Amino acid sequence: MEKKELLYEGKAKKVYTTEDPDILIVSYKDDATAFNGLKKGTIVGKGAINNRMTNHIFGLLEKEGVPTHLVKELSDRETAVKKVEIVPLEVIIRNFSAGSFAKKMGMEEGIKFKCPTLEFSYKNDDLGDPFINSYYALALGLATQEEIDAITKYAFKVNEVMQKYFASLNIELIDFKIEFGRYHGQIILADEVSPDTCRLWDKDTHEKLDKDRFRRDLGNVEDAYQEVFRRLGIADRE
Ligand code: TMP
Ligand code: ASP
Repeated sequence: MEKKELLYEGKAKKVYTTEDPDILIVSYKDDATAFNGLKKGTIVGKGAINNRMTNHIFGLLEKEGVPTHLVKELSDRETAVKKVEIVPLEVIIRNFSAGSFAKKMGMEEGIKFKCPTLEFSYKNDDLGDPFINSYYALALGLATQEEIDAITKYAFKVNEVMQKYFASLNIELIDFKIEFGRYHGQIILADEVSPDTCRLWDKDTHEKLDKDRFRRDLGNVEDAYQEVFRRLGIADRE
């Protein structure tokens, strides 16, 4: 499968068309941004780690009944995916207080919730991805009720599968953001699952193994990404 034209360049990925109108190729970059692009940097090796980690986890999710856009990993940084129309909602699941939740609620980070939370942001950089609820999404025509129901069901399933999987790597899944797309009338998981989009803490030391190290200038950013990748046990390609 070959790249044809650059369709779109985002903050962390480039997307190319292919011969097949249903298939795109995503190419993961080492570029990192935070605070809606205000902070910029490079995390060496991130593109390959995020690509391979996303594909590995999407494979696990497919086995558990969550449809994803994954078609085929082409190289360290490139993957063929189904061409979806992205639903303009960032879907955030939280198991512990952290980040914007901790700030908003005046709580310290790392408090375990009685049950997971789900929230939506409207995917719109000009507005800074504002927090919205499902009524806003319906009123603005961002998604139908059936789509919101499917997204909610899959998002909690993704949490269940990932929480269990990361626990087996001695990692606590604090929270994460996912995105869904429409593919021939079906809702499927798209975008990525990586240390860019999840908060991952070592279960014993509570060391942050994710993009918060970049956002908050905590140092050892590359080491954290490498550590997660090492624990996945997929470093050696066949
Ligand atoms: P938050 O606590 O800043 O709202 O972030 C919640 C989760 O969403 C966290 O795992 C990081 C992830 N996230 C993204 O993937 N992209 C973003 O633009 C933001 C703000 C958060
Ligand atoms: N992806 C977001 C941005 O650039 C921020 C984040 O992950 O914190 O700006």
